Amino acid sequence: MTTDTTIKITKITNSNFENINLDDLAFGTVYSDHMFICDYKDGKWQQPQITPYQPMLMAPSSRVFHYGQAAFEGMKAYKDTNNDVWLFRPEENWKRICFSSMRLAMPEIPKEIFMEGLQTLVEMDKKWVIPGKGNALYIRPFIFATQEGVSAAPANQYRFMIICTPVQGYYKNADVKVKISDHYSRAANGGVGATKAAGNYAASFYPTQKANEEGYQQVLWTNSTHEYIEEAGTMNVFFRIGDTLLTAPADERILAGITRKSLLQLAEDANLKTEVRKISVAEVTEAAKNGTLLEVFGSGTAAVIIPITGIGYKGSHWDLPKLENSYATQLKSSLLDIQYNTVEDKYNWTLKIK
Ligand SMILES: Cc1ncc(COP(=O)(O)O)c(C=O)c1O
Repeated sequence: MTTDTTIKITKITNSNFENINLDDLAFGTVYSDHMFICDYKDGKWQQPQITPYQPMLMAPSSRVFHYGQAAFEGMKAYKDTNNDVWLFRPEENWKRICFSSMRLAMPEIPKEIFMEGLQTLVEMDKKWVIPGKGNALYIRPFIFATQEGVSAAPANQYRFMIICTPVQGYYKNADVKVKISDHYSRAANGGVGATKAAGNYAASFYPTQKANEEGYQQVLWTNSTHEYIEEAGTMNVFFRIGDTLLTAPADERILAGITRKSLLQLAEDANLKTEVRKISVAEVTEAAKNGTLLEVFGSGTAAVIIPITGIGYKGSHWDLPKLENSYATQLKSSLLDIQYNTVEDKYNWTLKIK
């Protein structure tokens, strides 16, 4: 249920754009001129607004601070060589934030509010989409409980917002090594692993810090018995053993990545042999030992595809070979070509901003 869905727009008077050095950006540190806001109260979504990006007042008792009712999305806008701006499979992000909201007992966001808000905001802040392959405007839709009250119950007031940050390639030139978790878990059967609940990320920071101390940038999460590989940090993971590309099924503990789903389609189109099935730690470590583990890479919106250069497990470490024509390079280039509109988009994955 909604009231008036026309977006009330207040434009910024002085854009911050000219003050930003776009060649030297740390990920997510600078925000575009505007933000989108839509509140939910009295059982319905209120009139959406776009305002200048600015801090906001919140009561200390807002439930999000106490019970973590919050979920988010991550997506990007890409600029092609004609300066046209494109979104990539935005309805998938809408569906996923609705799924996360439902699981956290928050209201689902009407498609019209999500899609209109997103397109209007990106259109207004188009100049913030940095041109060049690998560069983009990272878009962060998020929803959180605003109702005041410290009793542990779902709130009856929420805020849905979208903010944007210009980005250059994530993990640029980074060496990403992962540690297979033999103790900590990210998700549980029947839990919230398949959602983008904010708390999933909070809970992953401490184990990631411990892995960092041992020289690993990310944790390769495993199931609760630590026998099967699930995903890494904020990425789904793919393994190439021999000529077969493997990834775990996006079940109730794993986030169903939009990049993962797209890469599986592109791998099929390229006639690569793919298998979506449970991947055991024993199988990966054995393949690392006998040299058949040729590639490991993470996939996600922020990172696109990141080759993993080494794997650690219970005190052992294996470095991965650097391949000339890796599956990672091939698939990344096919995906970027679609996102940056340099090839035909035969699956209708992209949406042009007006
Ligand atoms: C836990 C986790 N897994 C996987 C992904 C990759 O998902 P996507 O490809 O939709 O960005 C993300 C990023 O959103 C994530 O946070």
